[in-house]
Amino acid sequence: MEMKLFDTISELDHYAAQLFAATLNHKPHATLGLATGSTPIGIYEKMIEMYRKGKVSFKEATTFNLDEYVGLPENHEQGYAHYMRQHLFAHIDLPSEQAHLPNGNAENLHEECEQYDRMLTEQPVDVQLLGLGHNGHIGFNEPDGSLQGGTHIVELKEETRVANARFFDSLDEVPKQAITMGVGSILKANTILLVVKGADKAEIVKQALTGPITTECPASLLQTHANVIVLLDKEAGRLL
Ligand code: F6R
Repeated sequence: MEMKLFDTISELDHYAAQLFAATLNHKPHATLGLATGSTPIGIYEKMIEMYRKGKVSFKEATTFNLDEYVGLPENHEQGYAHYMRQHLFAHIDLPSEQAHLPNGNAENLHEECEQYDRMLTEQPVDVQLLGLGHNGHIGFNEPDGSLQGGTHIVELKEETRVANARFFDSLDEVPKQAITMGVGSILKANTILLVVKGADKAEIVKQALTGPITTECPASLLQTHANVIVLLDKEAGRLL
């Protein structure tokens, strides 16, 4: 596991965006695994900046997002499809048919999960971007006695719904379910880029990276992957 600590978030974002750009410059048809939430926004801004300066193109790339809420109306502002358009896709040259997110409104959600895994097998992820939940979740793989390998439907933990309620008008509006890539699907990525920002995540960063490998902290399973790069701002890394 390679770890890098940054004095400023801007430096961290720049480093992460560079890494994606370098991947695409080396392999234009690379598959990128993408995340939502607050953490990647600055990284996506830097990627857009690089695209505008002609330093990277997404024309041949394919992307897979980690997760999507179940049952939100298609263009709901808090849906991850909307988030991706707003923060990245609308601003770059990635053809829309090459950008994939699980469809949380699919008629048959189980089939949707299987189909997503089939696509991931056909186009394995080169670099997977991950944020980290306060409870150690990655994607929406919540702490539990056991975890599922493939893409599946999850019941969101109350603490995750409360954490995400800041984006909705009220807690009641936060969906109770989501579709997420499983930990097995995530660990198949060639390179994993775990990005964590902020003092409030310092404790879980320490647990995930240096604590026991346990399904009660899904991010701890990243310790078993051969090629994980961890990018931390100095607050998130202060207990290491
Ligand atoms: C988002 C995702 C989640 C977030 C995590 C951290 O696609 O999969 O695991 O990465 O909840 O969220 P933020 O970045 O908002 O702190």
